[in-house]
Amino acid sequence: MPIVSLIGIKEGVGNTSVSAALATILAQQGKNVLAIDLCPDNALRLHLGMPWEASPTSRACPTTYSEWRKFTWRSPDGAFFLPNNVRNVPASDITAQESAEWVIKDLPQLVQSSDNWILLDTPIFGSITQQALSVADIAIIVTNNTPSSYIRVLEAWPALEAARQCQKMQPPLLVINQFDPRSLLESDVHELYYARFGDRCFPRAIPYDTRVGESLAKGLNIASYAPSSPVTSRIGALPLWIKAQKQLPKNS
Ligand SMILES: Nc1ncnc2c1ncn2[C@@H]1O[C@H](COP(=O)(O)OP(=O)(O)OP(=O)(O)O)[C@@H](O)[C@H]1O
Ligand SMILES: [Mg+2]
Repeated sequence: MPIVSLIGIKEGVGNTSVSAALATILAQQGKNVLAIDLCPDNALRLHLGMPWEASPTSRACPTTYSEWRKFTWRSPDGAFFLPNNVRNVPASDITAQESAEWVIKDLPQLVQSSDNWILLDTPIFGSITQQALSVADIAIIVTNNTPSSYIRVLEAWPALEAARQCQKMQPPLLVINQFDPRSLLESDVHELYYARFGDRCFPRAIPYDTRVGESLAKGLNIASYAPSSPVTSRIGALPLWIKAQKQLPKNS
């Protein structure tokens, strides 16, 4: 049962889009999946069919697993997800860290349940990132082929390595998103990733496809909106690759 922390190396690389599509594909494959939004912008829910105006809230802070569970939603494809800040405490009253800390605290209990895959849409900075890494089996860094993203990966790698060594995790994996193979610059950066990180990189970059943006406009993600998109098929190959990296039992 993998707990996968997906971490966008910088804003806009598509971490939430990839997380939502991965959750959807796993659910379509009949897996139990729970995606948890640890990002204060609370956008994951919008990729999984929850209406903008819906607000699963309580001012009470859940303290037990059964209370916690009540805040979980189900996407049209059957992926369970937990929006960020279900307590709906105004941003002025609470820090982004605090809003997610209780989720991490209760995660070990959740892992004992029957959910097979837990995906954490994780921000790159802050104590919540450390906490996510402390419970995750595997960290996936989502990035793209811009030079600035590549530099960010190089800068962040030592800290990620240190965090995973403390937790005895696998080395982080890299998924390159939004790839436009027609761009010579992107192709060069792409080669740099593979030269530097080798088989830590998902072998097939996820291409750029305008339907990813369209899908969100429909309140969906690419896997439910455009099953035939190459983005969907690349993300569909992720679970097997993750399992191969982690050497999980075949039935997970
Ligand atoms: N493969 C792709 N092809 C085309 N557009 C994409 C792709 N992946 C993501 N996008 C677009 O990139 C933008 C950012 O995506 P997303 O919100 O998923 O990124 P993020 O890393 O979660 O950002 P944030 O840092 O704000 O949380 C969106 O407009 C989305 O539609
Ligand atoms: Mg995001």
